[in-house]
Amino acid sequence: MCGIVGYFGKNKALPILLEGLERLEYRGYDSAGIVVYCGEKMKSLKSVGRVSSLKEKVIKEDLISGKVGIAHTRWATHGKPSEKNAHPHCDCKRKIWVCHNGIIENYKILKKWLIERGHKFRSETDTEVIPHLIEEYFQGNLENALVKALKKIEGTYAIVAISEKDPNKIVAAKNSSPLIIGIGDKEFIVASDASAILSYTKKVVYLNDKEVAVMNADGIKFLDLFKKSLSKKTHILNWDLSSAQKSGYPHFMLKEIFEQPESIANSLRGRLINKEGITKLGGLDNVRKKMANIKRILISSCGTAFYAGLVGEYLIEEKTGIPVEVDLASEFRYRKPIIDKHTAFLIVSQSGETADSLAALKEAKEKGALTLGIVNTVGSTISRETDAGIYNHAGPEISVASTKAFTSQLSIFILLTLFLARQRQMSLIEGKEIINSLKKIPAKVKQILKNISQIKRIAKKYKKFNNFFFMGRKYNYPVALEGALKLKEISYIHAEGYSAGEMKHGPIALIDKNFPSVFIVTENSVYEKVVSNMEEVKARGGPIIAITNIGNKKLDKIADDVIYVPKTIEILEPILNVVPLQLLAYYIGVMRGRDVDKPRNLAKSVTVE
Ligand code: F6R
Repeated sequence: MCGIVGYFGKNKALPILLEGLERLEYRGYDSAGIVVYCGEKMKSLKSVGRVSSLKEKVIKEDLISGKVGIAHTRWATHGKPSEKNAHPHCDCKRKIWVCHNGIIENYKILKKWLIERGHKFRSETDTEVIPHLIEEYFQGNLENALVKALKKIEGTYAIVAISEKDPNKIVAAKNSSPLIIGIGDKEFIVASDASAILSYTKKVVYLNDKEVAVMNADGIKFLDLFKKSLSKKTHILNWDLSSAQKSGYPHFMLKEIFEQPESIANSLRGRLINKEGITKLGGLDNVRKKMANIKRILISSCGTAFYAGLVGEYLIEEKTGIPVEVDLASEFRYRKPIIDKHTAFLIVSQSGETADSLAALKEAKEKGALTLGIVNTVGSTISRETDAGIYNHAGPEISVASTKAFTSQLSIFILLTLFLARQRQMSLIEGKEIINSLKKIPAKVKQILKNISQIKRIAKKYKKFNNFFFMGRKYNYPVALEGALKLKEISYIHAEGYSAGEMKHGPIALIDKNFPSVFIVTENSVYEKVVSNMEEVKARGGPIIAITNIGNKKLDKIADDVIYVPKTIEILEPILNVVPLQLLAYYIGVMRGRDVDKPRNLAKSVTVE
C-alpha cells in the first residue's frame, strides 16, 4: 500500500527521501512523487511506475538543495495510477503540499464544498481535499490549519505536510494509518514504516490516532486536535538495517524463506521452560488470570495470517478443550459476533496495520472481549490497541508474499496453546514432549532448505500448467490453502486449496492430465485418508506432487513427484510442510518471469478496508 517519507533537518532532503521511497517499495505501489522546499520555492516531481523512474527525472531537476521535503509511493484507490493522481497533492496556489495514506470517506462532500468556495482541483483523489482544506483555514500557521482541516475529515489518514507560507517545518498527523517519527541529531524523518527510518536512527516516536507532530529547528512538539500539547515517549527500534536488505539473495522472498530456521528460533527464544513444560510469554503477564478463565476464543485475521489462525483453531481445541472460531477479519463485524467477558479475541497480523483486522479488533473491543494480538511489527497499531499479546520477533518481512511471518505465527500458536493447556489439563510430560519437538524445528527447516535443487527441478517441470489444486487434511488443510495462495500471488497461476476430503464433493470434476494436485500427505492421524484421495485423483489422470516424510517410499507409485520432509509430531507439521510449498511457488514465479517480491495488484500492508 501507499508509503510516506518526510524529512526536516540539516542535510539535503532529496537523497534521504528517495532512499526512503526505495525502502518502502516492497509495500506495493503504482506511482511516486516528491516535493522539496528549495529556499522560497516548492519543487515537485511525480512519475508513474517505479521509484527508479522518479529518480531519473529528479536527477535532471534542481531539487537538490532543499532540507525539507515529503515523498510518497501511491497504491491507487480513488483515481487510476497517473502523475495527476500521484502524491504529493497541493492547494490552488501550489504552496501547501500533502502526502496521505488512508481514505477520506467524506471527501465528496468536502470537495463539493471547497469547489463552491472557489478551490480548483487537479486530481481524482480523495487526498486532494486535505491541502485545499488547509488552504481554506490557513492564517499563518501550518499546524493550526491542519488541525482545523482534520476536524472536518472523516476516515483514515497518515499525513505529512509542508508549506511555503510557513516554511522550515514539517507537520504530521495520524488516524488508523501508521506513522512513525525517527528522531536524529537536529533532524527528523517521518515515515509510514520503520524500514524507511532505520538507516538514519533507531530512536522513534509512534504517533497515536488524532495526534499531530510539528518538527522544526527548535525540535519536535506534539498536539491533540484541541491543540493541547502532549508529551510522548521515545522508543528504540530493535531491527537492524541488514534485516531490511537482500544480503546477496536475488529476492527478499527467497531470503525470508531461508531466514526461517532463525526467525522460528527467534520466535521461541527465551519462551520455553523445559523442566516445567510451560511457556513464558511476557506479553500475556498482565492477563494471565483472565486467560485461565476464558471459555471461548475468537481468532480473526486476513490472508496468510488467517490460515495461521485456522491451524491455531485445530491446535487450541485439541490441546486445551477451549472452543475456537476463526473468522476472516473482513467478515467479522458483518455477522453480529457473539462476545461476552469470557471471550478472548485474538488478532493475527504480520504488519499490525491491516485495516480489516483493525476494524474487527475495534468491534470486539466494543463488545467487551479480552483482546490479544500475535503481531510481528513492534509498536504497530494492533500491538498497541490490544490488551495483551505476543510478538513474533521474526524480523521485518519485506517481500509482499508472507513466508517467515507465517511459520513464526504457527510457532507462536504452539506457544500460546502450551500456555493455555498447561493452565488447564495438559500434563507435564506432554508439555515437555511438545517443547522438545519444537526445539528441533529450526534444524528440520534447515534440512528442507537443503533440498532446493529438487524443488527447482519440480518447478521447471510444472511451471507450464495453468491450474493447480493443493490438498491436505486436518492440520495440513490450512497448509494447502497457504500453498495455493503463495502460488497464485507469486506466479499468477490459478491455484485452489482444498480439504482433501472435500475433493469428491465437486472439485474432482476438474481433474485431468492438465490439472496437477499437490498433496500434503505426511504420516499422521489422517495419512491413509489422504492417500485414498490421492488415488482418486490418480485414477482420473491428474498429475500429483506429494509432500511426505523422509523414508516413506509407499507413495512412489501414486505420485509423479515426491518431496520429502523430516518427521515431527502432528501439531508441528504445518511449520515444516509449508516450506517446500513456499519454495515451489517462488521458483515457479521466477521461472515465469514474475516480479516475485512485488506481485502485481498486491500490497504488503493492506491499510484500506
Ligand atoms: C499473503 C499475504 C497476505 C497477508 C494479509 C494479512 O502472502 O501476505 O495475505 O497475510 O494481507 O496481513 P497482516 O498479517 O499484515 O495483517
